Amino acid sequence: MTTRDKGLPARHAAEGLVDNVTIWEVGARDGLQNEQSVVPTEVKIEFLDRLADAGLRTLEATSFVHPKWVPQLADAEQVLAGLRRRPGVRYPVLVPNERGLDRGLTADVAHIAVFASATVEFARRNLNSGFDEQFGMFAPVVERARAEGLDVRGYLSMCFGDPWEGRVDPGQVATAAARLYEMGCTEISLGDTIGVATPGHVQRVLDAVCSAGVDVGALAVHFHDTYGQALANTFAALRRGVATVDASAGGLGGCPYAESATGNLATEDLVWMLDGLGVSHGVDLDALVGASRWMAQQLGRPSPSRVVRALGG
Ligand code: HMG
Ligand code: MG
Repeated sequence: MTTRDKGLPARHAAEGLVDNVTIWEVGARDGLQNEQSVVPTEVKIEFLDRLADAGLRTLEATSFVHPKWVPQLADAEQVLAGLRRRPGVRYPVLVPNERGLDRGLTADVAHIAVFASATVEFARRNLNSGFDEQFGMFAPVVERARAEGLDVRGYLSMCFGDPWEGRVDPGQVATAAARLYEMGCTEISLGDTIGVATPGHVQRVLDAVCSAGVDVGALAVHFHDTYGQALANTFAALRRGVATVDASAGGLGGCPYAESATGNLATEDLVWMLDGLGVSHGVDLDALVGASRWMAQQLGRPSPSRVVRALGG
């Protein structure tokens, strides 16, 4: 049964939304970094190709991190070398330090993302770094990458809660986000790594971050769907003017260094909502569902995306 047999959502605009949303697809990175068994390089490449065929134009491809820390992505060089890079498609990669940047530049990347933590404990567990020390690690990476003409995203994790520290003060999030922005990151992605945010909380954090001097046009949101709140949280962020949303095809994902981090907001669920709202995004839902079903077959388990399931995947 195809999407069209079951019908698309009826279109009803909601007030105060942007006309167009950029979907930052993280399935091949955030989705696959947490898999128990390592996915073969050629499967990763075909997944990225299928996502590009579905109309996604920002495909986070892999990470140039220490291979012992994330063995699932130890083939970063091979993935980038094997990709048929297409005009108009961006393939950003995660880079934690200068060694990662060197590897990325050798692999001819045009877009990187550094990834900071809003909390002390996650900086230690994820980056083996102190809180201030992480910014010291990123500053030369951002400076050199910008000088080389690269775009640089700054992720900020644990913006809504932390499994070791509990609640996270929005003021603390705002200060950390402003540090990444002032350092030269062209975009800041606010992460709910463990999926504990709710919509009012999202608006509070966005207001705090904007009050600290980060332009709303430079913000993205990155919601994990642990408690089923990711789509509601996304809608809250859209209402505050955010126009870039991170999502993972089929809802794959998690973070190996954060207890209870599950998959991201599923890209299909996001596309379904945006279609209903009449907000354009450039993705062909049938092709995307096809890519996620294909990936689910490779992984040997069904996709957790509600839309993929509803459409018979
Ligand atoms: P470290 O062990 O402290 O590294 O790890 P080091 O600087 O002490 O170096 C030790 C050795 O590692 C050296 O080799 C370095 O060359 C090598 P030696 O001299 O001993 O032979 N090394 C590297 N090798 C390859 N690539 C590199 C690299 N760096 C050093 N880039 C480090 C520090 C940051 C490297 C480590 O902690 C790390 O790789 N962490 C990455 C963890 C990670 O990828 N987590 C998942 C991504 S974050 C996430 O998922 C959250 C997000 O989705 C948003 C959200 O949901 O909130 C983005
Ligand atoms: Mg994540």
